[in-house]
Amino acid sequence: MFHGKGKSVKQFHVNGETREAIIRSGDTLLQTLRGQMGLSGAKPACENGDCGACTVLVDGKPMHSCLILSIEALNKPLLTIEGLKDSPIQKAFVEKWAIQCGYCTPGFVLKCHALLQNHPNASDERIEEWLESNLCRCTGYAEIKEAIKSVLNAEENHTD
Ligand code: FES
Ligand code: FES
Repeated sequence: MFHGKGKSVKQFHVNGETREAIIRSGDTLLQTLRGQMGLSGAKPACENGDCGACTVLVDGKPMHSCLILSIEALNKPLLTIEGLKDSPIQKAFVEKWAIQCGYCTPGFVLKCHALLQNHPNASDERIEEWLESNLCRCTGYAEIKEAIKSVLNAEENHTD
């Protein structure tokens, strides 16, 4: 099928499903997720790698999807906020009021999910370090840290 000059159909593994998208070689993963797959949870903000609003997990690692080419994400498991529906950390953000306008929230939830996966005994210092890559302009970071800690406490972990 003809898709226009420089475009081709590629398969991606997103949130446990195989999805097809028509991409150009220069498309970012953020553009493909939002424009081709209807996954609008990853947010465009700075589009320069500075804010973390576009964070998704690529092969389990939090990445700024505005800085990754779609072709770099082929054959790697991708997790977006849509794949974290009803997860402990997503619920904790709601319960601890770690949201105000919500624009930064998907990126934060994914970053926090990765933190909990990689450091199930995360100390306060570790949490601070992991949150440095994401910016929020309206809610306090205290509520976000409370959300993380509530999940850690629920799993009966201890600080390292
Ligand atoms: S939109 Fe990607 S880091 Fe800001
Ligand atoms: S809740 Fe508004 S930017 Fe973070």
